[in-house]
Amino acid sequence: ARPVTVPALAASKREGRPITMLTAYDASFAASIDRAGVDCVLVGDSLGNVIQGQASTLPVTVDDMVYHTAAVARGLERALLVADLPFLSYHDRSTAMASAGALMRAGAAMVKLEGGAQVVPIVAELVGQGIPVCGHLGLTPQHVHQLGGYRVQGREDEPARQLREDAQALERAGAGMLVLECVPSALAGEIASSLAIPVIGIGAGAGVDGQVLVSYDLLGIGTGRRPKFVKDFLAESGTIASAFEAFVAAVQAREFPAAEHAYD
Ligand code: KIV
Ligand code: NA
Repeated sequence: ARPVTVPALAASKREGRPITMLTAYDASFAASIDRAGVDCVLVGDSLGNVIQGQASTLPVTVDDMVYHTAAVARGLERALLVADLPFLSYHDRSTAMASAGALMRAGAAMVKLEGGAQVVPIVAELVGQGIPVCGHLGLTPQHVHQLGGYRVQGREDEPARQLREDAQALERAGAGMLVLECVPSALAGEIASSLAIPVIGIGAGAGVDGQVLVSYDLLGIGTGRRPKFVKDFLAESGTIASAFEAFVAAVQAREFPAAEHAYD
C-alpha cells in the first residue's frame, strides 16, 4: 500500500473518510498497527505513562522520543509517523527547531505539540522549515499542573471561545492537523467543521474527522483509571492484530466512539 502523506490526510477529510490513529512505541506494535491499516501512528509522550510508569508526561525527554520514534519508524510501511515534542522541548524557536529536527531525523513525518496562541509562532517557524505540525488542544497533559488534573476542557463559554480561537490560529499558522482531547462533542464537531485541516479526537465525540487512542488502552492494559473515552477492543477481538483491525473498522463505520465514550 502507498504510504500515507499529510496531503492525503487532508483529502480524507475533504472526502469524508474517517482517519485512524493509534500510538506505538516500538517496532513490533508499529508493524502490527500498520498492517491493520491504521493511517497514522503516534509516538506519543504518553510513553512516559505507559512505558516508563511515570505519573505524567513531564519527565519525557527528546532523547526518549528519538529512541522510540526510530524504533517505530523501522516497523512502518504505510502509516504516517507523528511524534510528540515533549515538555519544554519547544518553548523557543531554536530549541523547537533542534527538537523537531531530531524527531524528523529519527523518522517522523510530522511533529505534534500542545497549546494554542502561545505556540503559534513556533508552529509557523517549524512549518516554514518543512516540518509538518499537528496541534493538540483541549486536555493538554503537559499542562496538567495548571489544569489541576485530567478533565474535560471547554465546557464553559470562555474556555470554549478560547479553544475555537486557538484552533483557528493553529490552522492559520500552518498546522496540518489538530488533536482535540477531552472536549465536549458538540464543540469538537463545531471546530472540526470550521477548519480545513483534519481534526482527530480522543474523548471528543464522533463529529470530528478521525480518532486516536493510546494502543495500550485499546488492549485493556492502560495504566491507572480507565477514561470514559477508552474502549477495550481486545476483549471482543481475541487477538492483538484483530483488536487493531476492529478499531479501524469501528472508526471507519463511525461506530466508535459511541455516546458512552463521549462528553457533553
Ligand atoms: O501522547 C499521546 O499518546 C497523545 C494522544 C493521547 C493524543 O498525545
Ligand atoms: Na502526547
